[in-house]
Amino acid sequence: MNEKNRKRNLSWKDWYPSVMPDFSTIEVGKSPYGEPNLETLELFRKLPRKSDILDVGGGDGRYALPLAQMGYNMTVLDIDMLHLNRLQINAQAVLSNTAGKITPVLVDATEDFPFHRQFDGVLNAGFGYLIPPDQLDLVFARMARMRILKSGGLLVFEFATNRERLDIDGKSLIGKQEYIYTYEEGLHVLQTLYTKHGLRLLPPLIKTIHFEVPYHLHNDLIITHGIKR
Ligand SMILES: C[S@@+](CC[C@H](N)C(=O)[O-])C[C@H]1O[C@@H](n2cnc3c(N)ncnc32)[C@H](O)[C@@H]1O
Repeated sequence: MNEKNRKRNLSWKDWYPSVMPDFSTIEVGKSPYGEPNLETLELFRKLPRKSDILDVGGGDGRYALPLAQMGYNMTVLDIDMLHLNRLQINAQAVLSNTAGKITPVLVDATEDFPFHRQFDGVLNAGFGYLIPPDQLDLVFARMARMRILKSGGLLVFEFATNRERLDIDGKSLIGKQEYIYTYEEGLHVLQTLYTKHGLRLLPPLIKTIHFEVPYHLHNDLIITHGIKR
């Protein structure tokens, strides 16, 4: 990442280091971000085994690991080496011989993707909904462009709206720079992005995520998927 871009995007990129998980306290193969949503995994079953999927902001592999286990070859793009190291440790520990490949790539998703080939599917989970709409448009454009996503390819986006995250004393754990989408705004932004960037949007899935331990978390999750025209 060059210095110019680091400065340009500071307003929202700064959120992440404040919530860096402590992987040493987490069992290998488990993710600090919880269990993957089965609805999201299910959407990828539309793709044949051995398909190539790009997981943008894929972290320690909450999705990449089960998708590799389903036979897909996963390229996991992330800005953070600690997450990618943990991804590789997890992959060695949990994947069977028949699983697809996992390829970690250290990249900032706000900069050009360094790939010279296309993918059959692209996933963004646990990351895009922190970004304000105008900047999200740029990140979405990178994931959806023809150079990255094949015609007929699948783009899946997990988008948390109406977010609340409080510690046990009721203090907000939401970073100052994080953008909070209401449900209505999130749905509207997603519909606009899929259409603008040449994807046929299929009916979105809605799921409320709520727990109180180890902290209070609530969000109304929108899971969208669309097909590149
Ligand atoms: C909440 S985690 C979600 C990880 C994974 N997608 C999941 O659903 O479990 C957010 C991830 O986004 C990554 N990330 C944050 N900013 C990024 C950027 N500019 N480019 C690429 N990855 C980024 C973080 O390093 C982290 O791994």
